Amino acid sequence: MAIHEHDVIVVGAGGAGLRAAIAAQEEGADVALVSKLHPVRSHTGAAEGGINAALREGDSWEDHAYDTMKGSDYLGDAPAIETLCQDSPRETMQLEHWGMAFSRDDDGRVSQRPFGGLSFPRTTYAGAETGHHLLHTMYQQVIKRGIRVYDEHYVMNLAVTDHDDPEDRQCYGCVAYDIKTGDVNGFTANDGVVIATGGTGQMYDHTTNAVANTGDGAAMAYRAGAPLEDMEFVQFHPTTLPSTGVLITEGVRGEGGILYNTEGERFMFERGYANNVGELASRDVVARAELTEINEGRGFEDDHVLLDMRHLGEERITDRLENIIHLSKDFEGVDPLEEPMRVKPGQHYEMGGIETDENGATCIDGLYAAGECACVSVHGANRLGGNALPELIVFGARAGRHAARRDRAEARIETGPSAKSEDGSIDTPVTPGEVGATGEDVVADGGSRAADGGALLDAPAGEVVERAVERERARVERLMEREGVNHAEIRGDLQKSMTDHVNVFRQEEGLKQALEDIHECRERYRDVAVSDPSRTYNTDIIQTIETRNLIDLAEALTMGALARTEFRGAHWRKEHQERKDDEWIKHTIVQWNGGRPELYYKPVILEGEEKTYEPKVRSY
Ligand code: FUM
Repeated sequence: MAIHEHDVIVVGAGGAGLRAAIAAQEEGADVALVSKLHPVRSHTGAAEGGINAALREGDSWEDHAYDTMKGSDYLGDAPAIETLCQDSPRETMQLEHWGMAFSRDDDGRVSQRPFGGLSFPRTTYAGAETGHHLLHTMYQQVIKRGIRVYDEHYVMNLAVTDHDDPEDRQCYGCVAYDIKTGDVNGFTANDGVVIATGGTGQMYDHTTNAVANTGDGAAMAYRAGAPLEDMEFVQFHPTTLPSTGVLITEGVRGEGGILYNTEGERFMFERGYANNVGELASRDVVARAELTEINEGRGFEDDHVLLDMRHLGEERITDRLENIIHLSKDFEGVDPLEEPMRVKPGQHYEMGGIETDENGATCIDGLYAAGECACVSVHGANRLGGNALPELIVFGARAGRHAARRDRAEARIETGPSAKSEDGSIDTPVTPGEVGATGEDVVADGGSRAADGGALLDAPAGEVVERAVERERARVERLMEREGVNHAEIRGDLQKSMTDHVNVFRQEEGLKQALEDIHECRERYRDVAVSDPSRTYNTDIIQTIETRNLIDLAEALTMGALARTEFRGAHWRKEHQERKDDEWIKHTIVQWNGGRPELYYKPVILEGEEKTYEPKVRSY
């Protein structure tokens, strides 16, 4: 059995992972990046619009923080939001100093443009390919610094001790499937493991996310005992191409693009959805407006609305949004210089994730998380466009430094069960969690309970990692030996149910139906099997394991959505049409406990460094 040993293991090599690796290396740690993709194929490369950073005169980190808190519908934590807004200018300029090709104004300054929900045009960009440039810039740094990259290594699970209380557990590393050879190998982390595996978009059938976005890291951390926070808040981006889900950047509306319905109305203003800023309201508002237009019969083909940017002129479009011309032509057959683009909302971003403090630490010693897979929480109930990329670099850097154990700054955000303020209770139609699996089945379906002998408590790191490798090897063997159901049928049904019932508009009956459907997916997953016998580039086995991860996360998300009986940010409930501040300014926490999800709540921190953010009516 091969066991690789490094000080810091970073799982995932998108924006947060690369930034974490660089930061840990700068602290003197021996760092490895382990990723199922080559770094520059990570989904960060699909980020188009930009990076919010208060760089210019007339702007301030305080205004950025205010906009972000308002955008979050008062569910973000002030210490995290203020850290994001204070650190973003420095981190953005660091990218510039590393050579990132930002767009520039005529006077040579890095360009900024308006984005939804912002009170100042502070979205810094590189054409409509900001994420692509960001990835390449940081990957160059990784190469320059000689950071070891294990690409095409799919991390299947973490190596964590078995203490009853997750706050006593220790993460010593992880186990990865080598996609090129089919070997299962261990990774021991002397200092820490940083999870940076991105989003969960593959839970839905219409998403801007890459096929790789299956929430692997969040699911592994969850099953290891790190709670998931605020998973019910899912962002649906207002402008995706109807046939594929490909993103059309908010930058189009930032530059002046206009949304129309079949009546030729500029409905954001004319139908009163956002009388002040129209198309530049925050995403939850625009996505609901579009779907209302479509549901009330003013959509095209009952499916989409139109986004017109022709009036911006070819020169400006080509200068700032050239990529959009290609995407619309290639994927939809529409030349946006000649006619409006067809757009509709699509799943884009998971606001929730692995609960961390502002240093990226989880409640499990040695386990950190950053980026979309984490919830620190800066986005609360709704993320502002342009706030994802700064989150990656700001909190990626902090997680990397802390995982290297050189920076031990105290955190204000509490994590883990000791932060619990209130138990949650919901009436579910089925019992959530693992379904009666025992012995070999538990191993085969990635279950959390020890099926192979005694618990490891104070065992040395090597023993914990070796045990984890053996377990994951047994899982692969068993999945490949037996006959059974193909994961694709289960995944397809999961995606359909989530899309039908846990979308922009939600109601109790649908959420309960989704929980029943997820439970049925779990039951069928007990018989899942891999039919491709090959050992090299066996995507069947990877997708089978990913599907288990999606099931666990979909269940936690839907439980949180059913329990939250209010309308806040991206979480709209038919039966509960108001934001209920007295009852619901609290974070939803779902913790995996002996194969069952347990729901509880912890307080939101609205007290910032110098002021408290008082919840206000949120209008645009
Ligand atoms: O619309 C966009 O370009 C996406 C940006 C973001 O999600 O932050």
